[in-house]
Amino acid sequence: MSDSLHSGLARMRERLLDAEELVRAVASGRRRSASPPWRRVELRYVDLRSGRHLQVTSYDDTQAFTRNVPVGEPAAGAVDDLLAEPFGTWHIETTEALTSMRVTKKGHAQLRTEPRDPAAAVSSRGHDREKPRLLPADDAFVRAVGISDERGKVKPSMQAKYRQIEEFLRLLSDSMAAAQAAGRIGERGRPLRVVDLGCGNAYLTFAAFRYLTRVHELPVVMTGIDLKGQALQRNTALAVDLGCSDELQFHKGSIAAAQVEQPVDVVLALHACDTATDDALARAVGWGSPLVLAAPCCHHYVQAQLRRAPTPQPFGPVMRHGILRERLGDVLTDAMRAALLRQRGYRVDVVEFVASRHTPRNTMLRALHTGCTGDQDLLRDYAALESMWQVRPRLAELLAAAG
Ligand SMILES: C[S@@+](CC[C@H](N)C(=O)[O-])C[C@H]1O[C@@H](n2cnc3c(N)ncnc32)[C@H](O)[C@@H]1O
Repeated sequence: MSDSLHSGLARMRERLLDAEELVRAVASGRRRSASPPWRRVELRYVDLRSGRHLQVTSYDDTQAFTRNVPVGEPAAGAVDDLLAEPFGTWHIETTEALTSMRVTKKGHAQLRTEPRDPAAAVSSRGHDREKPRLLPADDAFVRAVGISDERGKVKPSMQAKYRQIEEFLRLLSDSMAAAQAAGRIGERGRPLRVVDLGCGNAYLTFAAFRYLTRVHELPVVMTGIDLKGQALQRNTALAVDLGCSDELQFHKGSIAAAQVEQPVDVVLALHACDTATDDALARAVGWGSPLVLAAPCCHHYVQAQLRRAPTPQPFGPVMRHGILRERLGDVLTDAMRAALLRQRGYRVDVVEFVASRHTPRNTMLRALHTGCTGDQDLLRDYAALESMWQVRPRLAELLAAAG
């Protein structure tokens, strides 16, 4: 084997075994005087229930044969077997680049690499494609809010938003199932009442409404609240266009003062700014809402307190670095919010909202009211955090004021 072919195959191998970056690879053709066992082979990574696998689809003249090989040694073995076959070309698409390798008549490798747009690549990743879409891109609502164009194709600038919507609907769906199984929502004889606090342009509000009414076939009344009058006008006009303005309404105003019909079953607060998340959580507790999904945004309130407070030892080496102090402030805020909700009878999970490679604002507090009140350990641990760091999230003040 020529040196160039040897090193070319080694480069292909590296890309093929990168389960994070590989989008798709195709081996086809044949080398001089040799015949691979397949006309063409396609590889990509897929996320199955049992974890990420390398999916290998091999084509003969009439059919395709697909097998899924676990990542790690089994996938490396499958890749090595394929690289040992005399395919004439390899095309490998990663999130970063398109690379092709052609083997010449003399057995040398010719490689070509072109950089590619990472946003486009991520949207076409095999394992992303593997997930069924909860709201298809050509859905009337998805088109109306401007995520996809009139042909039902997601606009390049809206790929990230569409991905966020899908991840959010997945979380909402799982959380609804948990709340229903626990008997916390689903009261007969009235629609599910959902409130989105700090709804902004309401992409997620419209998506949640559509998903709950169309896919879950639930009767739903939903209210979006935001400070911005411009958001109110846009969202209301869209709801009218979509024929759902009786069930999906928008109001201009602050979260703290929002007047909504009760009981409120589901409270959403997605990237509401800083203490607006605390306002939303406090409202949810006040309303006794069984299900709360809150994705915090910035955490200035606690960060400002952290900057002023004396640093407990031995955290000096953490706090001297602004970026680490900021991250600690984020973590402390959300941990304390979760603890406060637990004290109020919620079971709280802190989960990843959108994969961290897509956005740093990827934490979600998912709270389901179970009625189990916090035990003494919980109160003691929360108090210890406050006293050690000399910080108090706004939620603690709001809940204390509400009594
Ligand atoms: C980053 S946007 C998020 C919008 C939307 N929830 C989303 O995830 O796409 C935050 C929104 O919260 C609104 N907001 C911030 N503080 C608020 C408050 N105290 N009361 C009502 N709305 C608020 C802002 O006007 C803005 O539209």
